[in-house]
Amino acid sequence: MYRAPRGTQDLLPEEAPYWRHVEEVIHQVCRRYGYRLIATPTFEETSLFVRGVGQGTDIVEKEMYSFEDKGGESLTLRPEATAPVVRAYLEHGMHALPQPVKLYSIISIFRYERPQAGRLREAHQLNVEALGEMDPALDAEVLCLALDFYRELGISGLSLQLNSTGCPQCRPAYVEELKRYYQGHLGQVCADCQVRYEKNPLRLLDCKVDRCQPILAGAPNIRSHLCPKCAGHFVQLLKYLDLLGLPYTINPRLVRGLDYYTKTVFEIWAPGIGAQNAVGGGGRYDGLAQELGGRPTPGIGIAMGIERIIMTMKSQGIAVRPEEPPRVFLAYLGQPAKEAALRLSATLRAAGLSALLSFGNRSLKAQLKQAGNSGAAYAVILGEEELKRGLVTLRDMARSQQVSVEIEGLPDRLRWR
Ligand code: HAM
Repeated sequence: MYRAPRGTQDLLPEEAPYWRHVEEVIHQVCRRYGYRLIATPTFEETSLFVRGVGQGTDIVEKEMYSFEDKGGESLTLRPEATAPVVRAYLEHGMHALPQPVKLYSIISIFRYERPQAGRLREAHQLNVEALGEMDPALDAEVLCLALDFYRELGISGLSLQLNSTGCPQCRPAYVEELKRYYQGHLGQVCADCQVRYEKNPLRLLDCKVDRCQPILAGAPNIRSHLCPKCAGHFVQLLKYLDLLGLPYTINPRLVRGLDYYTKTVFEIWAPGIGAQNAVGGGGRYDGLAQELGGRPTPGIGIAMGIERIIMTMKSQGIAVRPEEPPRVFLAYLGQPAKEAALRLSATLRAAGLSALLSFGNRSLKAQLKQAGNSGAAYAVILGEEELKRGLVTLRDMARSQQVSVEIEGLPDRLRWR
């Protein structure tokens, strides 16, 4: 028996009402903030992610689904959406549009991670990007959109974790200072931190291992190393968040797993879904467009994990509207009536009604049982003799009452009843 590949999952019909609801809310909220839908390809040139996400990151080093196509080109299933959206912005000359250009997408991402609850190898994200504007008010607006979205879904108890990781002007000096500090403690830290020290020192701040915590507690704080521009941007952002009444926690240890971030970084953590508790994460990436060979274009965005959002909704007992049952189930007796039922099903659907047809020449009893199981409000029974007079039997399933009605008037009758 084949099974879905490790770290992937089927979206089964029972789960579909959650997905549909989440997607509906995404579209509504994004429209309210002036975002427009964009869809980029599922795969891109590998180098887009190597340059965009960054050579030293886990995503690029360990997690990409890369392959050579038949033409010998190296392609990668997108592990995230920001680099592709910036690529599309540059490719289509969107700098000529009024700025900021606000784009959102609903996508699958692919990362070869160790699967666990809330961590998949194919996951789905709502991705929101605003390009072409430096104003920290835009950072606040992106966060406001995300929090509106979660609130509209009924999710509560979220925590917005906020930090600034500076820019290429101020970050290197901080990283040097961090390395200087860790140099004296390298014998005490975990093996991962020893690698981080060499490869990606900012990630030292992110370590969860117990023995590293006392050392982390004494590490220098990036906040006191920000250049005046980055410091000013952060202070303004905090002011705007206060103004909007959005609570946040400044977390000097919050660093992100992608290299393109400048200034603002954030994550939104949910209670009750285990270790993989970030239901969203993002930040500013003012250098990314240039890194990809385009003109300097600031940007900010967030991606929110749909699976983790639905896990959170379920853990908080949030129900969604179930799928609507069909309006009518068509049962029949004999071949001529079956043909009439087939025609009637087309007429009813053309009138916008949901209609199910019985298949396979079952007994009337079996067909009515099917009608009951389908949850249809009505069953229509077509019999040869009745049909000769233009009549069918309409059965109200809930009341178990039936009447003889004209086939002609059925669409209207079923619509308005
Ligand atoms: P990220 O933090 O890697 O950021 O992912 C954002 C969110 O996607 C996470 O908070 C989580 O909810 C979900 N997610 C990520 N990986 C997985 C996984 N393996 N399984 C389940 N859910 C997952 C980014 O992707 C950036 N591109 C966000 C961004 C947009 N930054 C600026 N603009």
